[in-house]
Amino acid sequence: MVRQRWANRTIFLLAAVGSAVGLGNLWRFPYLAGKYGGGAFLIPYLIALVFVGVPLLMLEFAIGQKMQQGVIGAYKQLHPSFGGLGIVALLSSFIIISYYAVVMAWSWLYLLASLGVEWSNNPEAYFFENVLQRSAGVNILGGINWSIFLSLLIIWIAIYFCVWKGTESVGKVVSYTVPLPVILLLILLLRSVTLPGFLSGWEMYLRPVWSALLDPEVWTAAFSQIFYTLSLAFGIMVAYASYKNSDDDIAKDVWVTALLDSGTSLFAGFVVFAVLGYMAWQTNTPLVDLAASGPGLAFVVFPKALSLMPFSGLFSLLFFLMLLSLGIDSAFSMVAALNTVILDQQKHLRVAQIAMMVCLAGFIAGIIYTTRAGIYFLDIVDHFVTSYNLLLVGICQSILVGWVYGAEKLRRYINQVSDWQVGKWWNLAIKYVNPLVLAVLLTTQFSKDISIPYQGYPTWALGIGWSVVIVPLLLFLFLLLTSSHR
Ligand code: PHE
Repeated sequence: MVRQRWANRTIFLLAAVGSAVGLGNLWRFPYLAGKYGGGAFLIPYLIALVFVGVPLLMLEFAIGQKMQQGVIGAYKQLHPSFGGLGIVALLSSFIIISYYAVVMAWSWLYLLASLGVEWSNNPEAYFFENVLQRSAGVNILGGINWSIFLSLLIIWIAIYFCVWKGTESVGKVVSYTVPLPVILLLILLLRSVTLPGFLSGWEMYLRPVWSALLDPEVWTAAFSQIFYTLSLAFGIMVAYASYKNSDDDIAKDVWVTALLDSGTSLFAGFVVFAVLGYMAWQTNTPLVDLAASGPGLAFVVFPKALSLMPFSGLFSLLFFLMLLSLGIDSAFSMVAALNTVILDQQKHLRVAQIAMMVCLAGFIAGIIYTTRAGIYFLDIVDHFVTSYNLLLVGICQSILVGWVYGAEKLRRYINQVSDWQVGKWWNLAIKYVNPLVLAVLLTTQFSKDISIPYQGYPTWALGIGWSVVIVPLLLFLFLLLTSSHR
């Protein structure tokens, strides 16, 4: 069997950028910036990008391309005992995709309600009561919310048709779904800078609150955002790079992907804050309250702002179309990472069959989030996966390449195929900076979660969150130890 290939380099870059640019750029980044010191947040963010994000992305592109396999096979080639690390990465992918698709399902419901701007009377009640029909607490499941269930099914069918022919179908889809949201974002930017109050929004976005830099939480947030936004430690970038030829350029692709992704985040920040500035002006609400409203930004604050604009129906439609087109290529990249690994092992199966199984499993795993307590579970699982699993995989991956396989060896390969040469700083980043910085972040987060139960959820519910971290970790240790005794 010949390995699938990307049609050309641009298609690969589009796919990588498509995975990186997602909901994380549009709502996660702006709300973090709003919450953690405005312009000052950019400092830890850019430091994280250059010192951790870029070196790790380079690592993932390099091992995928060199080993020509998905994440399990690639790690195994680095060292036979490390296949389990790939499993942990894929489990994180699978856990995230199962709720990421649910967030897309909400967006789909909003898209349908856009033209009538159905939330205009009370956006908050619309989100929690109409759309989510949220129960009173995590211990009341409240049964399945069928409209979310159905839209989740629609989203999964869409994901299936994006990946069912592997690189061929992905390549076609990304040619549209990557440029489209950028164009929509541009339209929204043009719209928002003609609204009164937009400048005060920008001021809040860019004005640095320097004291924020003293807060360790700000640093943790910046580093985990870089992981999340670059889709690192999920096995995605390894899988995508494994469909390149082994002598293709690496260094340039890394910088292009990283800069386009962060550039989109910064750009999205301008749009979001301009609209928030307008809304603060219209409703006489302090801007700080709007910007720090967390994940509700995309489904409560923003819809409200849209409903205040002239031609609100049209702009709401564009906004949710943008959200969906942003999300879809991130969503299917996780499915593609899983498909790649299964295909590596089961060469007799067709991509379409594997994709069907993975999508079905993802849909089933997502059903818990379609219950009326779904948003609580989503919040808990999201917190634990993004705070721990990603950092853990990041650390192990750096140790594996830096100390077990040899950073210098991989760097030589990168330089052999790349126009832009990578200096020795990369070895230092992989061997020392990454594991150390990530370990510090992990410990800070851990001591915080131990002393204050996350969001005050009951212990059994947080237990689900912890098991999402601990089960894959134990599995990894088990596989590591048993394979080295062989
Ligand atoms: N990078 C995506 C974003 O910013 C999120 C994502 C996470 C995608 C994990 C794939 C895997 O939204």
